[in-house]
Parts: sequence; C-alpha cells; structure tokens
Amino acid sequence: MGPMGSGKSTIGRQLAKKLHRKFFDSDREIEKRTGVSISWIFEMEGEEGFREREQKIIAELSAMDNIVMATGGGAVLAEANRRNLKRGKVVYLAATAEQLYRRTSRDTSRPLLQVGDRRQQIKQLMAQRDPLYRQVADVVLQTGDQSVTRTVNAVIKQL
Ligand code: S3P
Repeated sequence: MGPMGSGKSTIGRQLAKKLHRKFFDSDREIEKRTGVSISWIFEMEGEEGFREREQKIIAELSAMDNIVMATGGGAVLAEANRRNLKRGKVVYLAATAEQLYRRTSRDTSRPLLQVGDRRQQIKQLMAQRDPLYRQVADVVLQTGDQSVTRTVNAVIKQL
C-alpha cells in the first residue's frame, strides 16, 4: 500500500518476481475486467462507484494465497479493505509529499490529482491517509530516492 507515486506497482512487480509469486495490481484488474480506464470509471460512476469496484476486487485478491498485490492509494480508506489486507503482510511504501509531487508531475491518469492545486491535494490526502497506512502496515518503508532493487531487498528483509 501507499500513496499515488510511491512505487507500489513497480516495487510490487519486482518483489513478486523475486519471491516467485504472482503479481496483481487492483487498479489494473479493475481495468481488465471492465475494459475501461480508472479515469473513465471515475467519470461515469464517480469515486463512489470506483470504491465499490475496488472493494470487491481487493476482497477477491485477498482471499488468494501466495500472491503479491499492489492496491490503489485510496484503498486504505475502507475498513473492509484494511481488514481483508490484514490476511497477508502489509507493506506501506512511504514517501514525503514533495517526493510524491515530483513523481506524479506528468500524470494525467489519476483523477484525484487532476483538479485544483496538486501539491495541496497530495498534502491533504497524506494528512488523512498516512495514519491509516501506518495502522494497517506490518512494515513501513521510506522509499526515498533509492533504487527499486534496494527497496525490494529491504522489503524482503523486513517481512
Ligand atoms: C487513488 C489512487 C490510484 C487509483 C485511483 C484513486 C487514490 O491508484 O486507485 O485513481 O485515491 O489515491 P495509484 O495509487 O496506483 O495511483
């Protein structure tokens, strides 16, 4: 878990490879099944519609054994997701608001960052979500600017 731009998909995919496990990204699963993008779902069904779909897919993936899953950044908001994810080990990929701002600078695919002042938006989301990520995490990892390989090794070491 972790906020948008924390590297969940990249790190999750590498981690799965190293552990010889299957990798799933909840957002990509939603897109695969619906055949449309996350932005499109936000436009057609609102955030509420998206969160319902997200909850279903996370429940389904959490019931699987021996997988690595990357969730969307907002999955932590729902108590049901937090509970389901606790079936496994949860890693929180933490980053500062400034790092997240830089890493999402050319972003057009994340609906929550398309309106208003992006820096402010990130700060607000983090103020709300950081305590929740910490509440659910077994491991908190400050991703900083280190390489993907280093982060993956650090995750494995701490699990
Ligand atoms: C969201 C994060 C996105 C995606 C959706 C909502 C959020 O996933 O699920 O746009 O609420 O933070 P990433 O964290 O993979 O960008």
